[in-house]
Order: sequence, then C-alpha cells, then structure tokens
Amino acid sequence: MRELKILAVVVFFSGALYWGVEPFAHSKLHPHVEAPEYTFSDVDGLNGATGDATKGAELVAANCTACHSIEKAGFPAIMDNASAAASYGVVPPDLGTAGHIYDENFLAAFIKDPIKATKTEHKYVDGKVHPMPGYGWMQPNEIADIVAYLKSIAPKTMSNKEVFVDACQRCHSIKYGDFYGGSMAAKTPDENIKTYMGVVPPDLSQYIRSRGVGYLHEFINNPQKHLEGTAMPRVGLTKAAEDQVIAYMTEVGDSKKPERESLAGPFLGYLVIFAIFAWLWKAKIWREVH
Ligand code: HEC
Ligand code: HEC
Repeated sequence: MRELKILAVVVFFSGALYWGVEPFAHSKLHPHVEAPEYTFSDVDGLNGATGDATKGAELVAANCTACHSIEKAGFPAIMDNASAAASYGVVPPDLGTAGHIYDENFLAAFIKDPIKATKTEHKYVDGKVHPMPGYGWMQPNEIADIVAYLKSIAPKTMSNKEVFVDACQRCHSIKYGDFYGGSMAAKTPDENIKTYMGVVPPDLSQYIRSRGVGYLHEFINNPQKHLEGTAMPRVGLTKAAEDQVIAYMTEVGDSKKPERESLAGPFLGYLVIFAIFAWLWKAKIWREVH
C-alpha cells in the first residue's frame, strides 16, 4: 500500500511538471509564430505576370549596373568593396544568382519597393532613405521583364556555401567557415554596416546551435516575427535556397552532426548489453544474501 502511495505522489508531480510547467515555460521562451511562408503573398509581387528576358536585359543594364556587378553578364563592379560599402552602407550583391536564390514574387516586390518587401518600414522614418531606390514608377510588365532576365542568367544549381555567400555574407561573417583563410569574413567592413544597420550583424558560425533549424527558418523568412523591430531585413529566399543556407550553417557550426547521429544505434545497443550484465550481477548478489 505504502509503495502505491509513493508511486501516486511521484506520478502526480512528474505529470504536473510534464504537462503543466514545461509547456508553460516553453511557450514563454519560444512564443509560437506562424510557419514560414514562401509565396510572399503579403507583398505586391509579380501578380502572375511573365516577362521578356531580352527586354529585361536592357532595363537592368540601364538601371542596375551602376551599383550592382553582374560578372557573368559582363558587368564588373564599378567600385571595390571598401568604396561601395562607404557609399551605400553595405556592398551591393552581384546579381548573377539573384534569379535562383530569391523568390520571384519577392524579387518583383523588392525592386518596386525595397523597404516594404524587407519589412523595414520602422527604420526608414524622418527622411531616411534606403540605399537602393525603388522602381515603383516602372510598368508592372517592365518589372516582370527584369525578373525574367535575372532568372534567365541565374545558375540552375549552387553549392550551399555559394548560396550563403550571395544571400548573407554582405552583412554577416561566418568565420568558422574558413577561420584562417579569412575568406568568410563579412564583405562590408564593421564601421560601414554599423552606420547602415545600427548594429554589427553577428558572426553566424554558431547560430545553428544557439537557435536551431526551426527558429532559423522562421527568422530568415521574416525576422520581425521573432525580433520585433529588428534591423535585419527579410531576405526573401526560396524554400530551397533557405534550406541550403541552413545546411551550410550546419556544416560550419555542427560539423560532427552526422557522426554523432550515426552513434545512436551502437550506443543504445551498449546500454541494453550493460543493463543485462547489471541485472545478472544484482541477481547474483541477492542469491548470496538469501
Ligand atoms: C543606387 C544603388 C542601387 C541601384 C541603382 C540598384 N540597387 Fe539593388 N541594391 C543596392 C544595395 C545597396 C543593396 C543591398 C541592400 C541591403 O542589403 O540592405 C541592393 C540589394 C539588391 C538585391 C538583394 C535583395 C535582398 O533581398 O537581399 C537585389 C535582388 C537587387 N538589389 C536588385 C536590383 C535591381 C534589379 C536593380 C535595378 C532595377 C537594382 N537593384 C538597382 C543598391 C542599388
Ligand atoms: C542587410 C544586412 C543583412 C543581411 C543580408 C542578412 N542579415 Fe542577418 N542580421 C542583420 C542584422 C543587422 C542583425 C542583427 C539584428 C538585431 O540585433 O536586431 C542580423 C541578425 C541575424 C541573426 C540573429 C538572430 C537572433 O535571434 O539573434 C541571424 C540568425 C541572422 N541574422 C541570419 C541571417 C542569414 C542566414 C542571412 C542570409 C540568408 C542573413 N542573416 C542576411 C543583417 C543582415
């Protein structure tokens, strides 16, 4: 009878912790946010329009190459990184891969209005302007032409690292990616990005561990959801590109993950064998006592 009472007390307190305290603490530490949304239906994107890449090529040459390089299409950078960072606050990305890594609706919305598309209205008050002018004055079919052109020159496949470099490295370093070579330092010098963003974006080497995959997907897709008022703009990646960025962050920050996971089977086997020996030993001791 006494044992049953003890069991009841243990069950009661474990239950209270498991179903009461833990979910409550979890909901406070990790408030629920909506799942990532990769159609970017909240922005004024392509609205179903399809464009003409040949016309888009002319529009891009006339409007975009003063700031952006497109190396593969024969538009080298006009300034080196240091001068570009000093002029714009951040090194403008090369547009050769934009059509692959960004969602097409997001891309159209970004070209029309970079502030709205990146959900950074709160930063551009009191006459502050975004370093990239919006092209809302263009016809919707011209915006669609630009998107069609960017898609036509983009590679069909990219490595995880290449996606990270083009999507994140103009602002973030990920030094463990190549600690001694130094090639994974942020492209924009700290003092310039600080003036532009208000803070120096953190080094992302260990964020896969401190934040985890779920948080990273929600955050990259819409930073405001987790950190309201944050300086980080929404980047507008496709689901596939976002998966690649996170895969790269895992390769860099948690390189032993596959090895660790492959140990689970042998480790459980060890526990089972160990439990059998422990039980045999206990049986032997009690045999001697009786
Ligand atoms: C006056 C300079 C300037 C011009 C002109 C310009 N851009 Fe940009 N663009 C920038 C800067 C600076 C950034 C980086 C902004 C940031 O990271 O916050 C940028 C970022 C981008 C991005 C990345 C979007 C993202 O979500 O990260 C794309 C795509 C882009 N521009 C396309 C274009 C296209 C297409 C044109 C021409 C129609 C164009 N830009 C014209 C300066 C410019
Ligand atoms: C235009 C610059 C810019 C780009 C591009 C950018 N970020 Fe950021 N990011 C920031 C800034 C600024 C912060 C710091 C935000 C703050 O402190 O409010 C930040 C913060 C973060 C954080 C920390 C969030 C937290 O919970 O503390 C993560 C993770 C992150 N960025 C991931 C990424 C990834 C992945 C990419 C590429 C897909 C990316 N960022 C692209 C500017 C940028």
